[in-house]
Amino acid sequence: MRLPIIIVNFKNYESATGENALKLAQIHQEVSRETGVSFAVCVQASDLYRVSQSVEIPVFAQHIDPVTYGSHTGSVLPEAVKQAGAYGTLLNHAERQLSLDVLEASIKRAKEVGLFTCVCANTPEAAAEIAKFNPDLIAVEPPELIGGDISISNAKPEVIRNAVSMVKNVKILVGAGVKTSEDVKKAIELGASGVLLASGVTKAKNPYEVLTDLAKGLL
Ligand code: G3P
Repeated sequence: MRLPIIIVNFKNYESATGENALKLAQIHQEVSRETGVSFAVCVQASDLYRVSQSVEIPVFAQHIDPVTYGSHTGSVLPEAVKQAGAYGTLLNHAERQLSLDVLEASIKRAKEVGLFTCVCANTPEAAAEIAKFNPDLIAVEPPELIGGDISISNAKPEVIRNAVSMVKNVKILVGAGVKTSEDVKKAIELGASGVLLASGVTKAKNPYEVLTDLAKGLL
């Protein structure tokens, strides 16, 4: 997977569920092809297979559980996610937080099955703790800015700066409130290797236009 990257988390938005997830992922692929910018999408577990089958950009799960084959009803089995075609998984999103020991076990399981890990952290300090588990990427997102209209790049540039300076062994993505190419550009200038966002795309009237604009932040 090529950095810098724009990763879009589909969460459980209606515009990004089922058939809509498929269409939205295809738009990401189209913009990626047109601009040459690296994009990935994080879809619900139930959409992993359908989306992975029809796009070539990396598809992420939103979560996995640190379980193995067996009697774990309702768990998201890493092997199943891999077999469904996922490239990687998000872990520890602010909306799906894990204790440090569960997170460590989840990263280990992801690595065992060959899933790329992008682990979320609420603060630079949390990112530094998580970095000890050697995930592939860490996405720092101040929870109070998630889903809002003010981006981390504008409201909390120091969070980006601090995360980048405190974590040396893992590349940092940043997110929360990211909506425009300016937000992306600023995040990169501050040392981030890309952005993680959701509502700017999933709630957009014209996702193609928004994605094309976001891509400009990396050109
Ligand atoms: O996972 C990305 C996310 O939490 C940020 O959400 O809606 O602020 O871009 P949003």
